[in-house]
Amino acid sequence: MKHPTRVNHPPEVKLPEGNRSLVAPIYQSVKFEFETVEDTERGYRGEGPGFHYSRNSNPTVRQLELLVAEMQGREDALATGSGVAAIGNCLLSLTKQGDHVLCFIETYRPTRYQVRRLLARFGVSHTMISIDDLDAAERILAERPTRLVVFESPTNPVNKIADIARITALARRHGALTALDNTFAGLHNHGQYEVDIFLHSLTKFASGHGDVMGGAVIARPDLIKSMRTDFITLGAVLDPHAAFLIMRGLRTYFVRRREQCTSALRIARMLESHPQVVRVCYPGLESHPGHALAVAQMKDFGSIVTFDIHGGAEAGRRFADTVQLFAKAASLGSTESLVMAPQMLRPRDLTPEQVKLSGITDATIRLSIGIEDADDLEADLAQALERAAGA
Ligand SMILES: Cc1ncc(COP(=O)(O)O)c(C=O)c1O
Repeated sequence: MKHPTRVNHPPEVKLPEGNRSLVAPIYQSVKFEFETVEDTERGYRGEGPGFHYSRNSNPTVRQLELLVAEMQGREDALATGSGVAAIGNCLLSLTKQGDHVLCFIETYRPTRYQVRRLLARFGVSHTMISIDDLDAAERILAERPTRLVVFESPTNPVNKIADIARITALARRHGALTALDNTFAGLHNHGQYEVDIFLHSLTKFASGHGDVMGGAVIARPDLIKSMRTDFITLGAVLDPHAAFLIMRGLRTYFVRRREQCTSALRIARMLESHPQVVRVCYPGLESHPGHALAVAQMKDFGSIVTFDIHGGAEAGRRFADTVQLFAKAASLGSTESLVMAPQMLRPRDLTPEQVKLSGITDATIRLSIGIEDADDLEADLAQALERAAGA
């Protein structure tokens, strides 16, 4: 074989019987070959085992799908290239012209966009209310046949806690599916509820290091099966190398999460007693209106601490410009701490009335707590609060 041929057909290295790698190899391959045309045809039809094209399915991505499904207490999942791809594909796949979706003001902004702008273009209507008003949800579900209820808990950014048992019971009674964006809560929370579909940004706690994007739709096999072809043909798939990195991140998921949540509670308590702070929105605090529900629903309270600062938006800006260990950046759930100033949190697509209901004010600041030393984080926050007050 001449070298130009050889480089395209390199020597195969197979592990001998009884020898295995502890970390599964990355199947960084678009194509997979079967022995015969007959097996290839079967593969194309999805009738036999095996893989043929990585947009349809890839062993490394499949390993991640099975892992996150199990962590969430379900049997199957579809991985996507980002969290919003998981949400968007799911919304498109589960709805059709004439359907109605119930969604909430306290939802990640791109999700609101997808429901209000994207689905609307395809004749899917929606009603958007506050997650605090489940009586209204009950009325709407009773009045209007509804395909899907899309919600979050804890909500972004002010950590409202949705009553998951009530929402799922209401939806079931009225024949609607529930889709819970569980990104804030994490893959280890809420699996005990009769949620039909869990949506996740794997970019956040799952990968945990802020260096890879991914998403997942996790549900029972019949629902995943009904969505699979749509997902394949929409093509927002996860790359095998990204799947590998997310699985590597998941190895330390529980350790990271424990550290983050412990520090978050400590910081929330410190902020609550600080004279420069108006209110703290952290479900681990007894003062939080959703505390009892969070205790009942969750295994921890998360690592997002949101608070309002005295002095409004300008004090918030000074605070965010002054902290040293918190990067002014979007996203959350990584090993490093982050801050979002009021100017970064403004929900520009909501009416003033809706903003009021959302609980976000001109003075709201969101912190994502990382795994740095909690003493250092506290000291940094304290000095920034002093400076924000003093200026
Ligand atoms: C609650 C929630 N859902 C979904 C997403 C979207 O995830 P991604 O950035 O991976 O598309 C985010 C991102 O911040 C989020 O906070």
